[in-house]
Amino acid sequence: MTRALRFSAVTVWLVVGLLGCSGGMDSRSAAGTGSGQDAVSTMTPEQQAALDEAMATAKQASAEQTRQTSEAAEKAAQLSLSVSSEKASESPRDDGIHDPVNESLAMLQNPAQALGTFPRDRRGEVDWVVALDQGLIEPRADLNGQTRMQVLDMDILMKGTQSMPWVKFPHSAHTKWLDCTNCHDEIFKPEMGANDLSMNAVLAGEFCGVCHGKVSFSLFVCERCHSVPHPGSGEKWW
Ligand code: HEC
Ligand code: HEC
Ligand code: HEC
Repeated sequence: MTRALRFSAVTVWLVVGLLGCSGGMDSRSAAGTGSGQDAVSTMTPEQQAALDEAMATAKQASAEQTRQTSEAAEKAAQLSLSVSSEKASESPRDDGIHDPVNESLAMLQNPAQALGTFPRDRRGEVDWVVALDQGLIEPRADLNGQTRMQVLDMDILMKGTQSMPWVKFPHSAHTKWLDCTNCHDEIFKPEMGANDLSMNAVLAGEFCGVCHGKVSFSLFVCERCHSVPHPGSGEKWW
């Protein structure tokens, strides 16, 4: 709010300053005095009228600008209010994100509480593979829970990893929750070695990076993908 006020004051000051200057120039050439100081008093009535009109327009414009600026400041304040209330809020009812009239709201648990006992990976993030295997979660195959996942037990070993352990891609860990069409054929051609995989591409969000580092485990837990040591990589270090 204070910033909006200061801004409008600066705007008015600028507009007045500029007008004063150009008004002075006009009258100076009209009066031929060579001095800007007393120029206003030597203005013709037409010039005075034009200046008055210009001042009125400028005032209007600056009032409009003030209104817009303070509206924007108010919006920003509301936004930061809703963000901080989201952090502080105990209940999703008043976090400004959830629909407060939805009756299922009461079923939502606080994530810290709901996930408190879940297994974690090295980075302290929930290990969803273990959570699924332990039966802590039971994702539905479809919205109504009427079909079953088509689980495929086929590992693919990727050896283009230089001195990093090889990558073992497990179809089973994926197809417990994902449909074949989530990956084939848009992300991966279903043929071993047919995709131009590389760590750079993954880091750039392609191939595995479409999901890993975004909705599934982080790319910084290298060993969850690079899980198969080979003579060139040294022993397992994790
Ligand atoms: C989500 C799985 C995944 C994770 C996590 C991951 N990588 Fe990779 N990485 C790959 C795949 C896939 C390849 C390509 C393998 C191939 O082409 O045979 C690869 C290749 C590599 C290569 C070989 C050179 C290259 O550019 O392709 C290096 C080095 C590498 N990764 C290092 C790392 C390091 C270091 C980390 C952790 C910071 C890491 N990776 C995490 C999947 C992963
Ligand atoms: C999370 C992504 C993902 C999902 C989901 C997935 N696949 Fe794959 N699939 C891959 C990757 C990665 C490869 C290896 C591609 C490569 O080596 O370049 C692969 C390879 C294949 C291959 C080739 C094997 C070979 O020997 O050449 C077949 C067949 C295949 N998948 C079938 C399926 C079927 C059927 C499903 C569903 C039950 C499925 N995939 C689900 C990622 C996936
Ligand atoms: C369509 C999304 C998607 C793509 C693409 C994908 N993954 Fe995954 N991946 C998942 C999900 C979801 C899980 C379950 C665990 C999780 O969410 O953190 C998973 C689990 C895994 C696991 C099991 C880890 C463990 O602890 O047992 C490995 C290994 C893995 N992914 C490697 C890869 C590699 C390598 C690629 C690329 C060749 C890849 N994934 C591509 C979504 C994907």
